[in-house]
Amino acid sequence: MKILITGGCGYVGSRLVPYLLAKGHKIRVLDSLVFGNNIKDFNFELIEGDICDEALCDKATKDIDAVIHLAAISNDPTAELKPETTKRVNLDAIITLTRCAKKNGVKRLILASSSTLYGFKEGDVFLTEEDELVPLTLYGKYKAEGENASFALADENFTVVSLRPGTVCGFSLRQRFDLIVNIFTNHALSNGKLIIEGGKQKRPIIHILDMCRAYEAALHAPAEKVNKQAFNVVGENMTIEDIAKRVAELIPGTEITYVDKTDDRRSYFTSSDKIKKVLGFSPKLNMADAVKELCNKFEDGYFKDTMADSRFFNIKTLKELEK
Ligand SMILES: NC(=O)c1ccc[n+]([C@@H]2O[C@H](COP(=O)([O-])OP(=O)(O)OC[C@H]3O[C@@H](n4cnc5c(N)ncnc54)[C@H](O)[C@@H]3O)[C@@H](O)[C@H]2O)c1
Repeated sequence: MKILITGGCGYVGSRLVPYLLAKGHKIRVLDSLVFGNNIKDFNFELIEGDICDEALCDKATKDIDAVIHLAAISNDPTAELKPETTKRVNLDAIITLTRCAKKNGVKRLILASSSTLYGFKEGDVFLTEEDELVPLTLYGKYKAEGENASFALADENFTVVSLRPGTVCGFSLRQRFDLIVNIFTNHALSNGKLIIEGGKQKRPIIHILDMCRAYEAALHAPAEKVNKQAFNVVGENMTIEDIAKRVAELIPGTEITYVDKTDDRRSYFTSSDKIKKVLGFSPKLNMADAVKELCNKFEDGYFKDTMADSRFFNIKTLKELEK
C-alpha cells in the first residue's frame, strides 16, 4: 500500500513510519518538521510543509491508497497557546485534507483523534464510542468536530475511520516527555522524585508500538465494518496516582510527593470492547514495557538533558518558535 502519513515526523509518526516500512508499505510524509526530522535514515518520501496549505494537501494525496492523519497541535496546553492557529491546524486542515484525499481517489483516511474528547466521567465507568463527548479543552473540541466533519464526507468509495487513543507511552526517535508515563519515567530517572497533582484523574494508556498496530489494523479492516466509525484505543486504564506508583515500583528509590491542587480536570476510563470486536485488535504491551524500554535508553546514554531540552516538550518548543 502507498500511505501518506501527515505529521509522520512527530512522536507517534517516528515509530509508525519505520513500523509500516518494515511491513512493506511505501510511505510519504507531509510534515512541517516542528520538532525536526529524526527518521531521516529511513527510506520514505518527505514533503516538508504546512498541512493548512491546500495545494500541498492536494499534491500529497495524489497516488496514495490510504492517509493516516497525525499532524496536529497535539496536546491540551499547546492548543490553548494560539486558538486561531489551533483551529486552522486541528480542524480546518482536517476538512481540507479529507476533501483532497476524496478528490484524488484515496480509498481510506484514518484520523488520529483522542480520548480527551470524553472530558470527564465520574465513577467506575468505561466509556464507549457511543457515549457523549464532553471535551473540556480546545484540543478536545476540535478533535470531536474534526471527526464529524470528516465522517460527513465519507461514502462507499471513501472510508473514514477515527482512532481515539489514550495517552501514548514509550520510546520514539522523536521522544516526548510531556505525556504522563513518559513524564514520570523521566522524573524518576532524572531526579528520583514524582510529584502527583491530584492523582485521582483517570487515564487510558496505550503503548506506542500497540498504537502502531492499531493504525495497521485500521488500514486493513473491511470498509463496511469501519466506515464513519470511531474506535477507542486503550491498553490499560489507570489513575495518575497508580501510574506514579507503578513507575516508582519499576524504578526503585523513587519518592512520591502529593500536591492537592491540580488544573487538570480531564478524567475518564475508556472501553476497548469495540476495537477488539470489530478490528480484532488487542494490545500486546503495557506501560511497564514502555517504562523499561525508556530506562534502557537512559542507561545507554541515548538521551541528554531530558528535564530542560525543549525538544522533548511540545509547549516549550512552540513557545520558543514564537520568539
Ligand atoms: N501522543 C499521544 O499521547 C496522543 C494521544 C491521543 C492522540 N494523539 C494524536 O496523535 C497525533 C500524533 O501525536 P504525536 O504525539 O505524534 O504528536 P507530535 O506533536 O509529536 O507530532 C505532531 C507532528 O505534526 C507536525 N505538524 C504540526 N503542525 C503541523 C502543520 N501545520 N503542518 C504539518 N505538520 C504539522 C509536527 O511537525 C509533528 O511532527 C496527533 O494528532 C495527536 O493529537 C496523540
